[in-house]
Amino acid sequence: MNPLKRPGRRRASVLGLLAVAAMVTPTTVTGASGAERATTLGAQAAQSGRYFGTAVAAGKLGDGTYTSILDREFNSVTPENEMKWDTTERSRGSFNFGPADQIVNRATARGQRVRGHTLVWHSQLPGWVSSLTDANTLRSVMNNHITTVANHYKGKIHSWDVVNEAFADGGSGAHRSSVFQNLLGDGFIEQAFRTARTADPAAKLCYNDYNIENWSDAKTQGVYRMVRDFKSRGVPIDCVGFQAHFGTGGPPSSFQTTLSNFAALGVDVQITELDIAQAPQAAYTGTVRACMNVARCTGITVWGIRDSDSWRSGENPLLFDRSGNKKAAYQSVLTALGGTAATQRADTRSSRSAAALPSRFSWSSSGPLISPKPDSTHNIAGIKDPTVVRYNGKYHVFASTASASGYNLVYLSFSDWSQAGSATHHYLDRTAVGAGYRAAPQVFYYAPQRLWYLVYQTGNASYSTNPDIDNPNGWSAPRNFYSSMPDIIRQNIGNGYWVDMWVICDSANCHLFSSDDNGHLYRSQTSVGQFPGGFTNTVIAAQDSKYALFEASNVYRVQDTNQYLLLVEAIGSDGRRYFRSWTASSLAGSWTPLAASESNPFARASNVSFPAGSWTRDISHGEMIRAGHDQTLSINSCRLQYLYQGLNPHASGDYNSLPWRLGLLTQTNSTC
Ligand code: XIL
Repeated sequence: MNPLKRPGRRRASVLGLLAVAAMVTPTTVTGASGAERATTLGAQAAQSGRYFGTAVAAGKLGDGTYTSILDREFNSVTPENEMKWDTTERSRGSFNFGPADQIVNRATARGQRVRGHTLVWHSQLPGWVSSLTDANTLRSVMNNHITTVANHYKGKIHSWDVVNEAFADGGSGAHRSSVFQNLLGDGFIEQAFRTARTADPAAKLCYNDYNIENWSDAKTQGVYRMVRDFKSRGVPIDCVGFQAHFGTGGPPSSFQTTLSNFAALGVDVQITELDIAQAPQAAYTGTVRACMNVARCTGITVWGIRDSDSWRSGENPLLFDRSGNKKAAYQSVLTALGGTAATQRADTRSSRSAAALPSRFSWSSSGPLISPKPDSTHNIAGIKDPTVVRYNGKYHVFASTASASGYNLVYLSFSDWSQAGSATHHYLDRTAVGAGYRAAPQVFYYAPQRLWYLVYQTGNASYSTNPDIDNPNGWSAPRNFYSSMPDIIRQNIGNGYWVDMWVICDSANCHLFSSDDNGHLYRSQTSVGQFPGGFTNTVIAAQDSKYALFEASNVYRVQDTNQYLLLVEAIGSDGRRYFRSWTASSLAGSWTPLAASESNPFARASNVSFPAGSWTRDISHGEMIRAGHDQTLSINSCRLQYLYQGLNPHASGDYNSLPWRLGLLTQTNSTC
C-alpha cells in the first residue's frame, strides 16, 4: 500500500510504461490452454458464462447436507417462496423481508447471484389484494408493492420475475383471469415492468411462465406477441423465464426453437424452475442442451436440491436423492454443460498433485461488504489493505483507514460475511498502536510464542503483539523489524516507497517480504527461534517493471502440497489494479509464473463476475481466506476466497481520499 501517491503523477507514468510492460509481462503459462473441465454444476456453467441455480427455502438453511450441496454446486439462488406477496406484504403496507433477507444475504456473502421471484402473481397472493374491487386502489397497491420490494433488494438481484404466470392455459393465447387482469386490464403487465425498472434499474426484468416451452402452443404464442410488442414500444423487458416443469418425456422437441425465437426478439432467456418427473437422464440432457445451444440462454435454475425438497417430491424430479447423493441425471446435466463426470475426473486428478492450484482462475465477487465508518474523531474516506483470519468461529479483519490526513488501522470481527457490514469498527489509534502513519496490516498467530502478531508499515516494517485477538486494546506499541532500511532496498527503490510487509514461516525459518513500488519484491530471513529478530540478508526475491510487480504481495502455503503461492499486485494497461500469481517449492524461490499475465491474471476485473453489480474495476490489496491461523499461512486450494479492496470506477481526486471498500471474491472454477 503506497502512502503518498498522487493520481496525476501515476496516470502519466502508467501510460509512459505501457510499451515496457508489454515487453516484460510474461506470456500465458505453458499448458494453460483451454478451460479446465469442472466437476460442479455452477463452475461448469460458468465456463460458458452461464449460471446454474436452485430454488432455496429459508427454512432449510440449517440443514448441513442441504447447504453443503447448495454451496458446492450452485452459483445462483431463487427464494422458493420467501419473496412472494403472501410473505413480503401479508397485510397492506406491512412488509416482511426477514426470510428472503436470510437467503439473499447468505447468497451474496458467497458470491451466488439471486433471482427475485416474484413481484406480481395471482397465486400466493394475500386475500386483502385478491378481494380489492377498485382499480385505482389496486394500481397503487401493486406499484407500491413492486417499488418497496424491488427497492429493498436493489443492487442484489440479478433478474426479477416481475410478472409470473399471467397467461391462460389452453387455446386462447390470452391473459388469464386474475384480480390484476380483471381490474386493471391488459396494461397491468406493462405497468408492472415500468415500475420495476424505476425501482431497480440494474436488475434484469423477466416475464416468467410455464407451458410456454412448446413453440406452437397458443400460450407460447401469446407470450411471444407480448414480448415482441414490449420490445417494439420500448417497454422495459430484458428476459423471459421458462419454468420447465416437465413430465417424464422432458421438454417438447421444439424447446430450443422456442428459446431461440424469443432470444431473437432481443431478450435473454432463462430456464427458471426446472424439474422433470422421475428425472430421466435423456430429458435432463435435452433441456440443458437446448439452453447451451442458444447464446442468449444465460442460465438454468432447478426447482430444489434433493427430491425431498421438491414441491413435486412424489415424482422424484430433481438431481439429488433424498440423502443428497448425485443421481444419474446429475451426471447427464454436468456433461451437457460441458463438464466431466466425477469418476472420469478422478483419473486425471491422480496424475497431478492432490490439491494443486489451477493455472487459470475465475471468480465471482460480492458487492462491497465493508465500508468506512467515520465517527466524530475519524474522518475516514476509505478502508483498505485488509488482512483476515478465521479464528474461534469468527472472521477477524484488520485494515488500513485512509483519509486526507493519512493512514491508521481498524479492527472488526463478525461470524458471517452477511454481518460484516454491521460489525463495530475499533480504531487502533486509540490503543497502544498509536496515532500516525500505520498501514497495510497482516495478522497471524505465532504459535511458538502463543502470541498474535500484527505486521504493518510505518516507514519501517513494524509489528505489535497481542495475546488475545478478540481484544483490540491488547495490542502492544509498535516495534521495528529492521534498524533501518536494508541497503539493497535503498539501492533499488528509486522514487518508490517501501511498503506492504508480509511474514510467513516454514518449520525452520520465517521470511519477511516487502515491496518498493518500483518493480522489486524483497525477502529477508530469520530462524523460527529468533523471530521477530534477526531479519538480515535481504535479497531481491522477484523483479519486473515497476507496474508489473508493484506492491501488496501475499505468500501462502498450499495445504497438502509442497507448493507456495505468491501473489503480487500489478497495475494493468488500463490503469486498473490486478493480481499476478507464481508458485515455488520453497519460500526462498524461485518463483514460476502460474496465472501471471494481463490476459491470464490471478484476479482482475476481466476474470471476475459481479452478480451484485460491477462496483469496482480494481481488484486490489487484500488477503486470501486461510485454512488456519498460524504463521505458516496455509490455504486450501478448493474454492479460494479473497478479501480485496475495490473502488468506484468513477471516483477521482486525492489518492488518500478515494472511497475504497472491501469485497469478497469466491473462485468459480474450482475443481473440487
Ligand atoms: C411453488 C413452491 O415450490 C411451493 O413450495 C409452494 O407451495 C407453491 O409454489 N411456479 C412458480 C413457483 O412460479 O413459484 C411455484 O413454486 C411452482 C410453480
